Amino acid sequence: MSNPNLPPRRLSVAPMLDWTDRHYRYMARQISRHTWLYTEMINAGAVVYGDEARFLLKDECEQPVALQLGGSDPALLAAAAKKAAAYAYDEINLNCGCPSPRVQKGAFGACLMQEADLVADCLNAMQEAAPECAVTVKHRIGVDRQTEYQTVADFVGTLARKTACRTFIVHARNAWLDGLSPKENRDVPPLKYEYVYRLKREFPELEIIINGGITDNEQIAAHLQQVDGVMVGRECYHNPMIMRDWDQRFYGSRLPETTHAELVDRLYRYMAAQIAAGRGTTVRHMARHYLGLMHGLKNARTWRRMLSDAALLKPNRPELILEAWAELAPFVGQAEQ
Ligand SMILES: Cc1cc2nc3c(=O)[nH]c(=O)nc-3n(C[C@H](O)[C@H](O)[C@H](O)COP(=O)(O)O)c2cc1C
Repeated sequence: MSNPNLPPRRLSVAPMLDWTDRHYRYMARQISRHTWLYTEMINAGAVVYGDEARFLLKDECEQPVALQLGGSDPALLAAAAKKAAAYAYDEINLNCGCPSPRVQKGAFGACLMQEADLVADCLNAMQEAAPECAVTVKHRIGVDRQTEYQTVADFVGTLARKTACRTFIVHARNAWLDGLSPKENRDVPPLKYEYVYRLKREFPELEIIINGGITDNEQIAAHLQQVDGVMVGRECYHNPMIMRDWDQRFYGSRLPETTHAELVDRLYRYMAAQIAAGRGTTVRHMARHYLGLMHGLKNARTWRRMLSDAALLKPNRPELILEAWAELAPFVGQAEQ
């Protein structure tokens, strides 16, 4: 169940495989206090049979944070949800939108949109195993040639009727399972925001979150006129400072925005602590997520070059981030060259 003490899901960072790992999420949390964060999709089997700490470890500061699971076996998803609850995730989200062939073979991801009854069984099993967590779903508006609005309306309607799930995150395009790569599936099928707006009108009691192709605050503000929340993926990765004024602008916070200098200082201390913890985390693991942080600043290219230079990364010194920042700090306030 949703924890009423948490901020609403007005804004969230999308689950992104290889990208929204705990190091990215730590950084994102330093920029926005209230935005919801989603993990990468983790296969339920990996959580249950694999090294659970590797998949579930997170920092306390991440809250509010959701674990996204992939799977279609209610019992396995329930076992994974139970473990996630023990790690204090606030929400467990089921992936019904991923089009990758690997996922299709396991019969989960976007192909689940064609099996609403099975999804209902999965969500119910997860909710029962993790009663303290909100159980939610992320999906598309249809699969392959299902282009009618009714497809997504029936999917949402069935789940609303058969489960306690009240939060639906809708990537506003179809998944084309045949012939498009996962990357193409994020760009080629047309966006139909109107379908998501209509869902909110027809199911006003549900929390409807829109996702797909959203890249600036003006677009976010416009979507929030129509739906409950906006989930942003790629823009939050390539330009994390887009989140800089979200607390003030969309959550009414009065706290000052985090500056680049403060952020670098916190990330330096974080990296030093991670390395000292001796779990094998390297500067390279963490710094790869920081490349977009200086987007728009003069010398941003130098920052990106230094933090991705194999020779500079090799000694595994967290001071590298301070040295890269020193190349930019004198120019802060000037546009990128
Ligand atoms: C590198 C990458 C990995 C992704 N991995 C996942 C994932 O694990 N689970 C998921 O539901 N969606 C995944 N997505 C899709 C995003 O969550 C999001 O729906 C999509 O990128 C559209 O939002 P955007 O236009 O704001 O990026 C991924 C996207 C990218 C770019």
